[in-house]
Amino acid sequence: MLDLIQTLKNQALHQISACHTNDELEEVRVRYFGKKGEITKLLKKLPIINKSERKIAGQNLNEIKDLLLKEIERKKADIEKEIYQNARFDPTVPGIEPQIGNTHLITCAIDEIYEVFAKLGFSRARYPEVEYDWFAFESLNMGKGHPARDEWETFFVDAPDDKKYGEIVLTPHTSSGQVREMLRRNSTPPIRMINIAKCYRRQISIRHLVMFHQFEGLFIDKGISITHLKGTLDYFAKNFFGEKRKTRLRPFHFRFTEPSFEVDISCGVCNGTGIDKENSKCKLCKSGWLELGGAGMVHPVVLKNGGIDPNKYTGFAFGWGVERTFMMKAGLNIPDIRILYSSDLNYLKQF
Ligand code: PHE
Repeated sequence: MLDLIQTLKNQALHQISACHTNDELEEVRVRYFGKKGEITKLLKKLPIINKSERKIAGQNLNEIKDLLLKEIERKKADIEKEIYQNARFDPTVPGIEPQIGNTHLITCAIDEIYEVFAKLGFSRARYPEVEYDWFAFESLNMGKGHPARDEWETFFVDAPDDKKYGEIVLTPHTSSGQVREMLRRNSTPPIRMINIAKCYRRQISIRHLVMFHQFEGLFIDKGISITHLKGTLDYFAKNFFGEKRKTRLRPFHFRFTEPSFEVDISCGVCNGTGIDKENSKCKLCKSGWLELGGAGMVHPVVLKNGGIDPNKYTGFAFGWGVERTFMMKAGLNIPDIRILYSSDLNYLKQF
């Protein structure tokens, strides 16, 4: 055994010194120290050789193991030094451009939306995404089991109910911030809030996402009427979409506004005519109008829940999807809303 150890040592030293690359060196290492390597095999044999030889062989083997491993490390350093010295600097090679990140287009849209309303004196608010049933539904005039709740396909959180505020949900709309804002302002109008936040609904399709954003306006003061709502919406349409755009209100129903409306904006492709340049039906809107979202005059019950006297004060509210509003602005015919969150950089970089 002792002879064999000596032979292996000389052989290995020779092979190490003959290496020119890291790969070759690694091969040599595995040949001796890998699972089935020569030295490993001998180490495994130690317990079965006779006692008189075992002690000295063990010592020898360990010494040689240390020596060879050190030698491999030294050789590795030599090889690396050589690679470094041989590398020449070529000033004509094009540089590697660092990746520069930029803001996601929905974040840009949120900033832009807020800027428009900030000019009208609305201040930005954000309320919890994980919300009590009471703020998301009950305080908005949708009692337990009311069928109107079906509209908001809600995720319920598996957590103990609160005695006062009920079950916990992922808020399905930003209207949950209405009563919260009234309470935060100590129920003292004037209140001008723009709440832009994430919402969650159990829906997924080319037009719906489980997570999306809404922006919610709330304006409460003495003598607020539908004309203020219409004026605010028109101001937003002109500033966000362009001078020529108009809005229209269509009667609708929400439990938390009375009267309620759906808001449409004139189509930017056919200028609200419904007829395109080739004299056929506009492919984007088909009618001259595009649907933006809901709005209405705050229901007296909601004002009361926020501690505000509906005989003294009135207000309006509106709530629309950020993604949809953004897509309309850009005149983008995004075939699938999900692409906005697909992390497809080739797509997102276009904006
Ligand atoms: N919260 C309603 C929705 O999600 C929109 C809305 C907001 C309607 C405010 C009226 C007033 O559809």
